[in-house]
Amino acid sequence: MTSVAETVARALERVDLDTLRRDYWAQNEFVYLDRWLPAALVDRMLAEVERVRPAVNRNYIPRHKKGGSVSFHTLVEQAPTILALYEAPAFIAFLESVAGRRLQPCPPGDPHACALYFYTEPGDHIGFHFDTSYYRGARYTVLVGLIERSSSRLVCRLYKDDPARAPVEMRLTTHPGTFILFNGDKLWHAITPLGEGEERVSLTLEYVTDPSMNPVKRFVSNLKDAFAYFGVRQVFLRRDSVRATQ
Ligand SMILES: [Fe+2]
Repeated sequence: MTSVAETVARALERVDLDTLRRDYWAQNEFVYLDRWLPAALVDRMLAEVERVRPAVNRNYIPRHKKGGSVSFHTLVEQAPTILALYEAPAFIAFLESVAGRRLQPCPPGDPHACALYFYTEPGDHIGFHFDTSYYRGARYTVLVGLIERSSSRLVCRLYKDDPARAPVEMRLTTHPGTFILFNGDKLWHAITPLGEGEERVSLTLEYVTDPSMNPVKRFVSNLKDAFAYFGVRQVFLRRDSVRATQ
């Protein structure tokens, strides 16, 4: 089987880096490549999606979000292909060359570091938000489409943080293998509600310029993750058990 590193290297040969970089900056640190990742890699990640499906944690926050998620902690144990993509040096170097910053994976205690998001029930969605960084440095999101059998759209409002520019709205279908990169503090985005009998699953990979975080922000971030995403057990109890066994 071809390694993830080789697959990434081959996919990168098909990228016009200058154009991608120009689009990224012209779009206020946001860019996408439709169906970019090779089908063989997507198929391996889809097998991992099915493996972790029993671990999905469902959340509902009225008027903001409804859906399921699987945290980094579960992916570390059960999704080696996804982890290999997250940590692939050539992939990180590619992101750095587009974003113009040195990047690193989030610290292993962060359940968002890489995570799967499951939209499986009618009305599943997430309202408009920034992927705000709680870290001392900036945080960048890579979103990869995996399952797309839905009428849901990723709606991106560019230039939300720039009063000098008129906003531009893009509505994207995140087909399998589609790659999206953005600066979390700059892209105002949402996923529109899922229809009856539909399904959408996406992967996000988070990178930071500085992995340190002040303790108050760490606490707020953990509360948000426990109640809005992964559940108290994944965020708090797991951290305690990890500490207890060290
Ligand atoms: Fe987001």
